[in-house]
Amino acid sequence: MHIAVVGSGYVGLVAGACFADMGHQVILVDNDEQKLEALKQGQVPIHEKFLPELLQRHRGQNLAFSDDLRGAVQASEAVFIAVGTPSTEQGHADLSYIESVASRIPSAINGYKVIVEKSTVPVYTSDWIRKIILRNAASPDLFDVASNPEFLREGTAVTDFLFPDRIVVGADNERCASVLRAVYAPLTDGSYYEKRDAIPQPDRAQVPPPFIVTGTKSAELIKHASNAFLAMKISFINAVASVCESVGANVQQVCHGLGTDSRIGPRFLNPGIGYGGSCFPKDLKAFRAVARESGYDFRLLDEVMRINEEQRSRFLRKIKSALWTLRGKRLGVLGLAFKGGTDDIRESPAMSLVETLVQEGCRICAYDPAAQERAREVLNSTIQFAENPYEAATGADALLILTEWDEFASLNLQRLRAELKYPIVIDGRNLYDPESMAALGFTYYSVGRPAVAPELRTAQSNASPRTVKNS
Ligand code: UGA
Repeated sequence: MHIAVVGSGYVGLVAGACFADMGHQVILVDNDEQKLEALKQGQVPIHEKFLPELLQRHRGQNLAFSDDLRGAVQASEAVFIAVGTPSTEQGHADLSYIESVASRIPSAINGYKVIVEKSTVPVYTSDWIRKIILRNAASPDLFDVASNPEFLREGTAVTDFLFPDRIVVGADNERCASVLRAVYAPLTDGSYYEKRDAIPQPDRAQVPPPFIVTGTKSAELIKHASNAFLAMKISFINAVASVCESVGANVQQVCHGLGTDSRIGPRFLNPGIGYGGSCFPKDLKAFRAVARESGYDFRLLDEVMRINEEQRSRFLRKIKSALWTLRGKRLGVLGLAFKGGTDDIRESPAMSLVETLVQEGCRICAYDPAAQERAREVLNSTIQFAENPYEAATGADALLILTEWDEFASLNLQRLRAELKYPIVIDGRNLYDPESMAALGFTYYSVGRPAVAPELRTAQSNASPRTVKNS
């Protein structure tokens, strides 16, 4: 099929590359000349596993980059709109980029097209896209508007796209739904997975994925409700972690017992320093705003956001309780990205904590496997950057773990301890086992689990680790 994807941001770029890998002819449209030039030259603007291979495989073959929206629409049966929907000051989604694209589509309509909203948008956006296209004199028989929310996560975007838990299509008639059925046929009929060079199947994937058709408004709501539910799960476990800290329980054990209830499930129950990124914070605010406008006061979402904010201040208090005063303290920081596997620092809890610690007078040396360059642009010379985790720890009063990178969970702990001035680790992502850390001589703080310190070594001392006051 011939497909246009408008917007080469995270979702657009990944969708374009994956559609091409599914065998479609794709034109990726953007109005950013510099970005297009970089893509044409083979540069990959985001750190995302398998994306470089796919772009290399299809660039100049069945994946073209263009600034010609009109030409791309004319050449395509389906036009996916994947432009940004940033937050306004009031927390609404700013839909002006979507409107601008929609208003330029009608003049290019030369046959039946399905216009697909792929960006995360509030309910009613598809109605508005339809109105704007009609207002600009397109014939109602020549187009339909569908909603096809995307559920990919940064860091695993390509595999999430090609091995989704489900494909949701909001379409108000069968003619429109059938175009999207054809787009996703290589996944739903399983033929993609038989390809010799298909992207490897991740462990949990169920193939072929279910194809769910709903009304457009329901599809729009599925996206917002999914993100809100996931964020709620994280805030819920963070709140439980705070109770665990107060009563001396262990949130890891609680999660195990809780998550093995198949109705609850173990995923997205990792406590930490709160969720961040370009999606959950923005989407929760937008969902809150859209619910309010439609007459429902969705206060549960306020609480989800409040707990998330509080999680950072609790962690800051934990650092203070471990170090007493902060001014002049040297801290090693592992992780700046909003989560592991990505170079994205948007709404990163790690970045926000680092900024606060700098304001408090700390001297920081940070390491992140991918986000360092982006972080440098924001933090300038307020902190130092290290080449590896051990360099970040060198001479530090304590080491903070702020992002759940896999490589931070398998450090050489003896070497780390030798580098630190004091063997204190404050782990905002629960990457290590407290008992083992204490046995290795660390004073170790984590989230929702008792803080531990090694026994002072005496002749008779062979006792288990000491529990220290948490925060
Ligand atoms: C999220 C959703 O998971 C995707 O399904 C959705 O498509 C995407 O938003 C979007 O709307 O575009 P993403 O923001 O890439 O994906 O990353 P997540 O893996 O969901 O993590 C979000 C944040 O929650 C991160 O800061 C992460 O560290 C945190 N998190 C996640 C936790 O603190 N605990 C967990 O158990 C899981």
